[in-house]
Amino acid sequence: MEHTTTATQQGTSTKSQALTNNQFYTDVIAGLTSSPKRLNSKYFYDAVGDKLFQDLMNSPEYYPTDCEMEIFTSYTAELAKEITADGDAFDLIELGAGDASKSSHLLGYLIDKKANFTYLPIDISANVISYLNVTLPVTLPGIKITGLQGEYFDMLKKAASISNNRKVVMFLGSNVGNMPVAEAEVFCRELRNNLSPGDMVLVGVDLKKNPKTVLAAYNDKGGITKKFNLNLLERINRELQGNFNISQFDHYATYDPESGACKSYLISLINQQIKIGEENISFKKDEYIYMEISQKYTVEQINNMAKVAGFKPLNQVFDSKKWFVDAIWIAV
Ligand code: AVI
Repeated sequence: MEHTTTATQQGTSTKSQALTNNQFYTDVIAGLTSSPKRLNSKYFYDAVGDKLFQDLMNSPEYYPTDCEMEIFTSYTAELAKEITADGDAFDLIELGAGDASKSSHLLGYLIDKKANFTYLPIDISANVISYLNVTLPVTLPGIKITGLQGEYFDMLKKAASISNNRKVVMFLGSNVGNMPVAEAEVFCRELRNNLSPGDMVLVGVDLKKNPKTVLAAYNDKGGITKKFNLNLLERINRELQGNFNISQFDHYATYDPESGACKSYLISLINQQIKIGEENISFKKDEYIYMEISQKYTVEQINNMAKVAGFKPLNQVFDSKKWFVDAIWIAV
């Protein structure tokens, strides 16, 4: 007899095919079937994760945002000095612009000083780009803005094809810290390969400091970081037909002052079996999932990273506590 497929079977197989074609699904299964288990923190940021990250930035313990905001509001002239030194027209590109809440202080300053520049925010989210394209001309009259939606390096290539102006690339928020050091070096080298001599980078980096201060930021008393991490399991439930019971996982953060690596884990509280689509994943009691690194640096390490990647460090602008730095590099 010929094999016939019922509507339900068809529905199920179309669904699982849709899952296996999905990069998020592929990465999650690869991460949870590897040893030790891991998930990629870039997947923290769905709509719920974005909101939790906003809450986190407002928590008393999470200092990096306040520190960098102080740099952009109190030391704006210092930031602008190198960028505008030669007085020529330039493109000010921001990788992962978000709501541009920090950079808009620099943009406003540059407009007041009649600097000749175009702002090119790059973001993976189409919503972010259309929001910036619409709101910034209202809040910052006179701004020239071209939003670019897509992956960082694809959009940098596009920016280079749009204009020959000198480029200044901002990468703020210590996002560079969400890569292990070796990967951050590769990223900076790739950034350099997409730029020309004389182009600049303005990179925001969280510095090594009292280990208790760092650890508290990733282990806040209000439990927002815990929710932020657990949301990735809930996102897997929502989007990938997972069945995690998040009450059976705990959050664990650790900071090693020697290496500067701050790492987050989720710990399975029991022996358990999870289903994601058609996949079964087993967890032993106390087994961990490595979720995220938030690497902290010294100024010397940052200067070294610049040099290794083909840049010369030009200047460093600190907050008043010297907990955070916005470093300015020039491509050589
Ligand atoms: C986005 N990134 C720089 C944050 C950080 O500090 O590593 C993400 C974060 N994770 C937990 N808290 C904040």
